[in-house]
Amino acid sequence: MKLLPSSLSLLTLFVGALACPDEEGHDHHVHKREFPTAPLTPPSRPLVWGDLNIIHTTDSHGWLLGHQKSSFPEPNYSADFGDFASFVSHMKEIALEKDVDLLLVDSGDLHDGTGLSDGFPPGGVDAHETNKFITQLPYDVMAIGNHELYIYANTLDMYQNFVPKLNGRYLSSNVNITVADKHGKPVKRFTKFKTQKGRSVTALGVLFDFTGNDVNTTVQPVAQMVKESWFADAIKNEPDFFLLVGHMPVQRDDWPLVFNAVRAVHRTTPILILGGHSHIRDCVQLDGRSMSLESGRYMETVGWMSMDFDRNSRDKTKNLTFTRRYMDPNRVTFEYHAGRSNFTFDTRTGQSITRGLEQLSKNFDLDFFFGTAPQDYTLSRSPYPSNGSLLTLFATQALPVALAINNSRADIPNVIITNSGSQRFDVYAGPFTKNDQLTASPFTDSFLFIPNITAEIANKVLPALNNAGADERRRSFFREMYGRGHVEHLYRAWLEDMDRRSGIDRRASKNLTLGYVTSDACAGIGDDTLHSPLPFYDSPDFIASNPPKVSNDTLIDLVFVDFIEDQLLEILNAVQTGKTYTDADVSLYTPILANAALGLYAQEAWN
Ligand SMILES: *[C@@H]1O[C@H](CO)[C@@H](O)[C@H](O)[C@H]1NC(C)=O
Ligand SMILES: *[C@@H]1O[C@H](CO)[C@@H](O)[C@H](O)[C@H]1NC(C)=O
Ligand SMILES: *[C@@H]1O[C@H](CO)[C@@H](O)[C@H](O)[C@H]1NC(C)=O
Ligand SMILES: *[C@@H]1O[C@H](CO)[C@@H](O)[C@H](O)[C@H]1NC(C)=O
Ligand SMILES: *[C@@H]1O[C@H](CO)[C@@H](O)[C@H](O)[C@H]1NC(C)=O
Ligand SMILES: *[C@@H]1O[C@H](CO)[C@@H](O)[C@H](O)[C@H]1NC(C)=O
Ligand SMILES: *[C@@H]1O[C@H](CO)[C@@H](O)[C@H](O)[C@H]1NC(C)=O
Ligand SMILES: *[C@@H]1O[C@H](CO)[C@@H](O)[C@H](O)[C@H]1NC(C)=O
Ligand SMILES: *[C@@H]1O[C@H](CO)[C@@H](O)[C@H](O)[C@H]1NC(C)=O
Ligand SMILES: *[C@@H]1O[C@H](CO)[C@@H](O)[C@H](O)[C@H]1NC(C)=O
Ligand SMILES: [Zn+2]
Ligand SMILES: [Zn+2]
Repeated sequence: MKLLPSSLSLLTLFVGALACPDEEGHDHHVHKREFPTAPLTPPSRPLVWGDLNIIHTTDSHGWLLGHQKSSFPEPNYSADFGDFASFVSHMKEIALEKDVDLLLVDSGDLHDGTGLSDGFPPGGVDAHETNKFITQLPYDVMAIGNHELYIYANTLDMYQNFVPKLNGRYLSSNVNITVADKHGKPVKRFTKFKTQKGRSVTALGVLFDFTGNDVNTTVQPVAQMVKESWFADAIKNEPDFFLLVGHMPVQRDDWPLVFNAVRAVHRTTPILILGGHSHIRDCVQLDGRSMSLESGRYMETVGWMSMDFDRNSRDKTKNLTFTRRYMDPNRVTFEYHAGRSNFTFDTRTGQSITRGLEQLSKNFDLDFFFGTAPQDYTLSRSPYPSNGSLLTLFATQALPVALAINNSRADIPNVIITNSGSQRFDVYAGPFTKNDQLTASPFTDSFLFIPNITAEIANKVLPALNNAGADERRRSFFREMYGRGHVEHLYRAWLEDMDRRSGIDRRASKNLTLGYVTSDACAGIGDDTLHSPLPFYDSPDFIASNPPKVSNDTLIDLVFVDFIEDQLLEILNAVQTGKTYTDADVSLYTPILANAALGLYAQEAWN
């Protein structure tokens, strides 16, 4: 099973591991990054600066060249990491002018998501190259994410090449790595430092109770971590503020354990929490002298938090003033807040990062061209089934074409079944490249088949699979999968809520552009640029090709993606009783893997 947990379907239990995708050899067309051509709307209002300010990134997952497609709402997230570096540099200057503190913080998941991180040639290590660019930004604190821990080689690479560049500011409070060389320096569990303005900080880097980590790494449950003696020692002395960074959603999960452990010792010290992992925009205040912020995913959001310290020591029981903002990362947003024009915005470091990333894209051949997508295909903005649905495209168009290539069974009618978690990101109109393939459909699963099933029986399998998940079974499945890092259901629930909540005033927001419309538990409006909500449509857990146009008694091939084998056999034995099917009846259908299907289809259908 070669998968990332984010591809898990319901009712599937297995251990995740990511394999390196196949290379394809064809002629090369180079496509330049598309700058948005439409005039971009500026943010709604200036950021509110305080005594202490934080720029926050999380779950960037390799999206360092930003979102490059011209379909909505991608231009909103079109800034690349060079633009972001220029932005941070200007904001640092503004902080100096205002004589306030500005910190840059990241909450983990640097790996797995685009060709820049995952499109490395054989022998490479995921995110090794992108990490070099991240170290060029002046991050004050970073925390480890679960995607740094699925494959030991990635963790080791971080440990050897990335962590040392952070000078003790890469924190891993409850995660250990075992290295063969016993002289390896331990990754710091916490750090204490002074800000530019001389304020003392105690910082942690906490990971949720993740269970999908690879050998030679260990994750200690948060509940145990807060009982460690090092933890008690670390928080004993009162700093000017606690900076609790971690790869853990701010509204669920175990932040209260860490918060309460600190509050038990320091009743009034400001606590700033910067979380991540569930890929949403979110904010909550655990008390009036603390704020928790989570800043989305895939460089679709850059977070902002600000706070004013007490004006005098008698105020110590009063609520502190906090603000938070979710910025859409694009040059218009950055220029607006940095007070720069397009011509004075770029710094030399920023430009060199952009050039370096573009060169990396060339080195990895990420512009390798498969075909031109005629329209957008999305995961949740079009109903399933429909011609705008990526799941419909994948199951009813791409798989039937791709799996038939060089296949002696291609003439035998079939039904092909896969899971809806098999796709990770939307496909947009325009060139479909190696980068798009790695981004949308990265999972290297095989396809298996059982021959000689009547069409009548084969057609019953998909609905039976989708009906098999009783509510309680679903809930316990999600609990289990959450431990292994699966968060797509939380992100989708957020989109669904946004769509439902804003459905009523969608008319009023008609003049706005599509994007995230955040409703969190903090005061005031969080979104920096106001949007009309993205439409959301749910989809079933399992999807399939169209039923073949044959009579009910025709013997056909029942084809399915490998990791649903156990459930499929169970269901097949429930919808018929003529034969008890076992693993012995299953064979490999084709050597072509799931991650190649969209590219092969694009070569045939989109040229
Ligand atoms: C966001 O994208 C929309 C298209 O949906 C575009 O019209 C708008 O100008 C963009 N806003 C910014 C700030 O990029
Ligand atoms: C795990 O650590 C042990 C002891 O250091 C070592 O022998 C083994 O090769 C390591 N495993 C991997 C996958 O690196
Ligand atoms: C990590 O290592 C430290 C000592 O280096 C040890 O005290 C701690 O129990 C380890 N944690 C886990 C989860 O293995
Ligand atoms: C202080 O903040 C807390 C938590 O946000 C809130 O419940 C409380 O009402 C606030 N108190 C005042 C006096 O504003
Ligand atoms: C803004 O600057 C970028 C990068 O230098 C350039 O590609 C773009 O054309 C400029 N846009 C405008 C509107 O001048
Ligand atoms: C998809 O459906 C829409 C609306 O029904 C239609 O306008 C469009 O032409 C269709 N696209 C394709 C590629 O069939
Ligand atoms: C199909 O077979 C041809 C001829 O052997 C080969 O060149 C091609 O790469 C194969 N296609 C795939 C997708 O395996
Ligand atoms: C499938 O049926 C065909 C003819 O109906 C037969 O030749 C073949 O052996 C069968 N295959 C299996 C695996 O039962
Ligand atoms: C959209 O309309 C509302 C009032 O209907 C107005 O307040 C807002 O400024 C408008 N936004 C844009 C981007 O024009
Ligand atoms: C095929 O089987 C289905 C399900 O058993 C049944 O509803 C349908 O009427 C059958 N079709 C024919 C043409 O017999
Ligand atoms: Zn993530
Ligand atoms: Zn994560």
